[in-house]
Amino acid sequence: VLSLSILNGRILENLGICSQLKFVRFMRRGKKHKDDPKLFIKDLKFDNVPVRIYQPKAPSAGQRRGVLFFHGGGWIFGSINTHENICRYIAKETESVVMSVEYRLAPENLHPAQYEDCLAATIHFMKNTDDYGVDPARLIIAGDSAGGNIAVGVCQTLVGRKDLLKPRAQVLIYPGLQAMDFNLPSYQQNRAVPILFRERAAFYALQCLIGNASVLEDVLQGSHVPPDIRQKYAKWMGAHNIPDEFKVRGYKPLVPAEFVPEVYEVVKDMCSPSLSPILAEDATIRQLPETCILTCEYDVLRDDGLLFKKRLEDNGVQVTWFHVEDGFHAIISLFDKGRLAFPSGKKGLDKIVGYIKGL
Ligand SMILES: *[C@@H]1O[C@H](CO)[C@@H](O)[C@H](O)[C@H]1NC(C)=O
Repeated sequence: VLSLSILNGRILENLGICSQLKFVRFMRRGKKHKDDPKLFIKDLKFDNVPVRIYQPKAPSAGQRRGVLFFHGGGWIFGSINTHENICRYIAKETESVVMSVEYRLAPENLHPAQYEDCLAATIHFMKNTDDYGVDPARLIIAGDSAGGNIAVGVCQTLVGRKDLLKPRAQVLIYPGLQAMDFNLPSYQQNRAVPILFRERAAFYALQCLIGNASVLEDVLQGSHVPPDIRQKYAKWMGAHNIPDEFKVRGYKPLVPAEFVPEVYEVVKDMCSPSLSPILAEDATIRQLPETCILTCEYDVLRDDGLLFKKRLEDNGVQVTWFHVEDGFHAIISLFDKGRLAFPSGKKGLDKIVGYIKGL
């Protein structure tokens, strides 16, 4: 674990984007799982994937909801431990059973290892809801940041499975849902807002997909998108699908750089639903369960959330949207961090809790 931190630190340093690394390490630091007076907490393996289950101790009149949570961290950071307090809070406040997944991280394990682990753990949980007193018709697939990307990928797979019940809802906390366009208004406006810089968003996607960031500059400029793909997805992607009120602050339309086929060859999945689940066809989107999306104004990923909201609504899927006006990426993770906490982080998390309680 230590050497991985050092390795990642070096990668980030070489790219000159390491000023926030201290924060990332802070989020990453392991904590032992301590007992909780209100929860039974168990570390298990579901289909060989390590998971942690949080079960309220209080007796329940009926079956509980199940919340299947995939942590964020750009596919290369994060763990059950970094999101321990969020999962405990959700379990206690919503009186649901929460499963948190320790999926394999990049760059050692490239995409789609993260998605595969989360899918395997989810299906195992779905088939064993009885063991946890969970209602199989009230399962919520949730994730923050890269975990939100995985959550949508898992949901898109599950709605195609006739042998399993459809999830009750998706909960997406500042999700990253596309790697096609790093020049959307929010990427320009918040390019240097901690803790997720524009360059780093692309860097993470590249680490996840190919394990290095050699084509970072090309991808930032959009050289990885073939003209026919750009045209095909123009109806769903692009600044013209973002409401005007989000473009007043420091945004200027850019002409994408010239297409470079050699770059596309290496990063094809950035332009496919595999890594950009927002690009799934209508036939899939239409079947997704009702969705809660939380976006933050000062977050490069804001427009991923806004575009997906539109995409779902255009396909008749009910969306509950919370926008944190003074929020930035990862603010929810700080909800209980004392001097580092921002009131909006706790408020945002409580909105999510309120939404889950209504399901
Ligand atoms: C980056 O990964 C790609 C895809 O696997 C590979 O072709 C390329 O050689 C790698 N570049 C570096 C600098 O490691």
